[in-house]
Amino acid sequence: MRAQLARDAAAWGREWRPDWPAHILDRYRIDLSTEIMGVPVPHPIGKGSGQLSLRADQLEADADAGLAFAVLKTVIAEDERGEQAMSAWAIHESRMKVERRPSAGGREGWTVTWKGRGWDRPLEEYLTLVRAARDLAAAGRILGIPSVKYHLPPANEPFREAEYRFTTRALEEAWGPGPLLLEKDFSPTLAGDARSDERATILRWLTEVPARIRAAARGPVRLGIKLMNARFDDDFQREMLARAAGGADSLTVFNRLWDPGAGVAYGGWDLSDRNLRVLDGAPASVPRSGTGNIVSGRMIVAYALRGCSTVQLHTFFQLPLSAYTAPSGSRMARALHALVFDPADGLVAALLELEADGRLERRGGILHLRDLWRAA
Ligand SMILES: Cc1cc2nc3c(=O)[nH]c(=O)nc-3n(C[C@H](O)[C@H](O)[C@H](O)COP(=O)(O)O)c2cc1C
Repeated sequence: MRAQLARDAAAWGREWRPDWPAHILDRYRIDLSTEIMGVPVPHPIGKGSGQLSLRADQLEADADAGLAFAVLKTVIAEDERGEQAMSAWAIHESRMKVERRPSAGGREGWTVTWKGRGWDRPLEEYLTLVRAARDLAAAGRILGIPSVKYHLPPANEPFREAEYRFTTRALEEAWGPGPLLLEKDFSPTLAGDARSDERATILRWLTEVPARIRAAARGPVRLGIKLMNARFDDDFQREMLARAAGGADSLTVFNRLWDPGAGVAYGGWDLSDRNLRVLDGAPASVPRSGTGNIVSGRMIVAYALRGCSTVQLHTFFQLPLSAYTAPSGSRMARALHALVFDPADGLVAALLELEADGRLERRGGILHLRDLWRAA
């Protein structure tokens, strides 16, 4: 199988196809199928919310490469008059810089430096994007999931329910029939904001926000909560996990770190070190979606072993083309190629290694990715 993998890495690097998971099942008897918020997807690799999911043509290119899902850029909630309590997050910034960032331990990683925040255009344009995503999902091409930043009050202030109601219902209408899939974002800029100074305030948000979103909706909602890396210790981070698990169907763990000196969010190895360390001490009571420095199939497995049924990448989909080994194909195809077929660190290699170590067993002759996250 190792020799086969080296041959496949070369062949698929020259010519990529979106039905690659079928090939993995056929050739290696590895079943990568999994689920996000209860919805089946053919494999675990998706795109995190951000600048790479602003437009329908980005989603179409992702579907062409065979990405499983994409979380749309985070929109800032508003009421029927267009008022946004969180308007400080709806600012425009287009310039991004992909750069090297060494971790505290000196390991070189990648980060994207960017001063922007949430969706900066009218809500109506976001609803058009949601409708385009819905049509792509209906055609079986890719699943698109909206993301919202709702009002988060400082201590002793009430939630602006009108913003919850108006935005959630507008999304439901654009989404159409069936339960609305929704991710609620707690971002690094929020972690760095004065309103996150108090632990009790953060815990109140995590307790109350899921219920407020469900109460605001007309129909059922499958809710993912994307947790920030708060500026407190690992124990508090685990307390946040436990609190959010009470009301969410899925937890996305954990958004980027906050650099107070530079005033920017960052990723790289510090981010994945912290995320994996926190998850290690916290058994999964609801399925998770891993995010943070996922740069290899080996890293997908690391998150899966900690209860992540899927993963959401951003930075790895933005690297210079020279960082991927495939000589041709779209950026997304080259990234997927590296994540899946790399003979040393790809997903196939990492799963075969777990099998060889006796940590993952075939059932009916097949290795199942879902056996990993379900056991966590
Ligand atoms: C430029 C940029 C913009 C982002 N915007 C959002 C956003 O609007 N909402 C959100 O939930 N996450 C946002 N993220 C976080 C990513 O979705 C992802 O969770 C995070 O970057 C960690 O993954 P990575 O290490 O693969 O980049 C953004 C990340 C980057 C780099």
